[in-house]
Amino acid sequence: MRKTLEEIRARSLRAIGEAAEPSVLESLRVKYLGKKGELTAVLKQMGSLSPEERPLIGQLANDIRAAVEKALGDKLAALQDELLRARLESEAIDVTVPGRPFILGARHPLKIVWDEAVDIFVGMGFQVAEGPEIEYSDYNFTKLNTPEGHPARDRQDTFYFDELDSVCLRTQTSPVQVRVMEAKKPPIRVISPGRVYRKDEVDATHSPMFHQMEGLVVDRGITMGDLKGTLNTLVKRLYGPEALTRFRPHHFPFTEPSCEVDVQCFECRGQGCRVCKGEGWIELLGAGMVHPRVLAGCGIDPEVYSGFAFGVGLDRMTMRRYKISDLRLLFENDARFLAQFG
Ligand code: PHE
Repeated sequence: MRKTLEEIRARSLRAIGEAAEPSVLESLRVKYLGKKGELTAVLKQMGSLSPEERPLIGQLANDIRAAVEKALGDKLAALQDELLRARLESEAIDVTVPGRPFILGARHPLKIVWDEAVDIFVGMGFQVAEGPEIEYSDYNFTKLNTPEGHPARDRQDTFYFDELDSVCLRTQTSPVQVRVMEAKKPPIRVISPGRVYRKDEVDATHSPMFHQMEGLVVDRGITMGDLKGTLNTLVKRLYGPEALTRFRPHHFPFTEPSCEVDVQCFECRGQGCRVCKGEGWIELLGAGMVHPRVLAGCGIDPEVYSGFAFGVGLDRMTMRRYKISDLRLLFENDARFLAQFG
């Protein structure tokens, strides 16, 4: 029996030494010390021992139980230490590693100019109106005195959605004029900045998507003088008090008379240079007095009311403002480029 006990001691201690997980230790405890365990089984045979042997074997069995219990406890502690150490190691935070930089965005240069132009007009009492980018050809053309068959409606220039060419991506912000005049009666003073689309090949000065800002004023007694005053105010606010404008006769179907407005080149003061391509003047926008037919079509009596309208190219304004030589830079979304303007 002594031999059996010593054998159990050796076997259990070795197994405990080799255990790699707490759950293994628990099953070893059951295997050796449990009610049906090996050590218990040996002790149950104590009755067959002689009275001299009994206390000695009893003492030995108790020693072995104590040794196995201690070994189980020590090993469990060691395993838990090991687990904790491994977890601390894997979850360690190196507080000396530099933080991730927090990159602040910046307003797009186009939006800066857009907001500035809106501010200038809001300061003159204008309200901001909006219209859809997907527009009825009726609004984009017909109601703007540009009937079917007019060259401006050409499929080569306009993105149509259907065979009948009845819906398109608006080619100008001018349809917002019609929407506003149909919705409310004079006095009207609105601007409408937004995206417009034309089938242009992409190059340094063209893009199939670009931006315009429409302006519309309708009231009793509005004249070309009001148009000039308003646009001169815009130009002086944008380019400084010395900025000069030039109004040239032009043609648009929905204004009569129509004009184009140039601003004197601020680079060369009209001498002619690279910026203005030797012209001395830089084209800024198209404008004119709202055609009586357009007013009447929107239910506004042209005998009572008159108005002016204009359309500014916001992309060009932005390029001029920040001396950006290539329109594509505005739409490529290279953060290194865009961050320069915030
Ligand atoms: N819509 C015209 C264009 O795209 C500009 C314009 C607007 C002209 C308003 C006159 C009045 O070129």
